[in-house]
Amino acid sequence: MNNKTNKYKQGVIQAIQAFVKQKLANDFSGHDMAHIERVVRLAEQILQHEPKANAFIVIVSAYLHDVIDEKVVADVNQAVIELRDYLILQALTDNEMKMIFDIIENMSYRKNLNQKKELSLEGQIVQDADRLDALGAIGIGRTFYYGGNKHNIMYDPNISPRMALDEDNYKRPNTVINHFYEKLLLLKDMMNTQTAKKLAEPRHQFLVQFIEQFEKEWTGKE
Ligand code: NI
Repeated sequence: MNNKTNKYKQGVIQAIQAFVKQKLANDFSGHDMAHIERVVRLAEQILQHEPKANAFIVIVSAYLHDVIDEKVVADVNQAVIELRDYLILQALTDNEMKMIFDIIENMSYRKNLNQKKELSLEGQIVQDADRLDALGAIGIGRTFYYGGNKHNIMYDPNISPRMALDEDNYKRPNTVINHFYEKLLLLKDMMNTQTAKKLAEPRHQFLVQFIEQFEKEWTGKE
C-alpha cells in the first residue's frame, strides 16, 4: 500500500469502527464494542505472523463480524442490507465486499456445526481472534454474562452436555457450564493459525482449572 491508499484505508476503518460502535451500543450479550476491539487487537497480533494475509480485509471483517449475527441483531436480512449500503458508501470494491461477507457470514461456531465452512486466510484469522476472546478469564466472564442475559441457569448436574450439536439445537436454552463442554473446551483444537494455537493454550488451561474448581465447590468436595 502506498501512503495515499494507506491513509484512505485508515479513514475507511475509522468510519467502520464508528458504524459498529453505534450498531452495538445496546448490546448486553457480550458482543459489545469492547469485545470487538479485543478481537481486532487479537487479529492484529495474528497478522504479524501472517504476512500473506490482506490486513485491510482482516481488520474490517474483525470490526464487522458481529453486526449481522442473529445473536446480536433482531433482523439479520435487514442488517445485511444496511451493512451492504454502508460499505458501498465507503467505496469498497466488489471484491473487498465479497471477501468480507464470505468471512462474516460463515465464521460463526453455529454456522460450522453441520458442515465446516472453507474460510480464506483472512477469515481464518478473524475466526481465531473471535474464538480466543471466548477463552480465558474474559471467555468465562462473557459466558456467564451471556447466560444471565438469556435467563439460562448456571449449572444442573442432571442436565448433561449435548454431544451431537447441530445448527438448530445449538440455539436451545442450556446451562452455562454445559456451554464449556459443548463449545469452549473444544476451541483450542479448532484454531486455524499457529499464533492462535499458541495464544489459546494458557487460556484453555485457565478454563479447565476453573471448571474443576467450580465442580469441587458445587459438590462440596473441596
Ligand atoms: Ni464475536
